[in-house]
Amino acid sequence: MSEVKVALVTGAASGIGRASAIALAAAGFTIAVNYRSKKAEAMTLLEELAGDGHQAFCADVADANDAGKLVSDVLEVYQRLDVLVNAAGQFTPQDIKNGNYREWQDAWQHSLQLNLMAPVNLAFLAAKPMKEQGSGKIINITSRGAFRGEPTAPAYGAAKSGLNSATQSLALALGEHGICVYAIAPGWTETPAASPRIRKQGWDDVAAQSPLGRIGRPSEIGNLVAFLAGSETDYLTGAIIDANGASYLRN
Ligand SMILES: NC(=O)c1ccc[n+]([C@@H]2O[C@H](COP(=O)([O-])OP(=O)(O)OC[C@H]3O[C@@H](n4cnc5c(N)ncnc54)[C@H](OP(=O)(O)O)[C@@H]3O)[C@@H](O)[C@H]2O)c1
Repeated sequence: MSEVKVALVTGAASGIGRASAIALAAAGFTIAVNYRSKKAEAMTLLEELAGDGHQAFCADVADANDAGKLVSDVLEVYQRLDVLVNAAGQFTPQDIKNGNYREWQDAWQHSLQLNLMAPVNLAFLAAKPMKEQGSGKIINITSRGAFRGEPTAPAYGAAKSGLNSATQSLALALGEHGICVYAIAPGWTETPAASPRIRKQGWDDVAAQSPLGRIGRPSEIGNLVAFLAGSETDYLTGAIIDANGASYLRN
């Protein structure tokens, strides 16, 4: 069995997942780069990552079968899995006042499947090899919206809230096997998905939500992921870490 630790990062071709892969590779991990549609970006990332042995794995993590194949493919290549970073996610807008019922249901279905079911399915699948190894770390990317409500995307807020709760439950369930589970709840972070929405709301207004007067950087979340994946952070298991420039405290 290889001594180099392996981290599977979902949604790694862009944004927070990409920044997490970069920070973990810099910290010495071998990265299983999961992507869904962004093959070119995933291949570019492989070339940019420090160290070697990184590979890209195409999978739609919202599909339970695909998620199962993803974890078994990673195990087949590396024979181990030390860190799972659940970064894949999507904000799906909803309109309870003017939207139609079909769209309402579809958005709930999609949002819960991607933002809650995918991470917990992957946690289930990753827990088995981690248990056999006697150690492992699962890091879930949730959202500030889990605490504040998301009036224009209630399913997203509920899914992220559910994932915060699942993080706590899984930390309790898996701790005896040396598996630690954390959540990071970012606020606005400059990523390909969020930047157009930030511009729509007004960049300066969004930046002003934080006393730092700016929007979060993907590398700030990526570095936090790498910190949690490292040694000496086990006692933080079950923690939900706010990473939103104190914007949460101002509202
Ligand atoms: N940026 C923010 O302000 C912010 C704030 C709070 C929380 N977050 C959370 O942070 C995480 C990353 O978001 P981001 O802003 O970095 O967005 P992003 O740049 O769009 O990255 C998300 C990645 O997830 C992938 N993805 C989406 N659905 C997938 C699926 N079914 N299977 C596999 N990959 C999938 C996307 O690839 P494809 O397009 O190919 O599907 C994309 O590469 C999300 O969980 C998000 O909810 C972000």
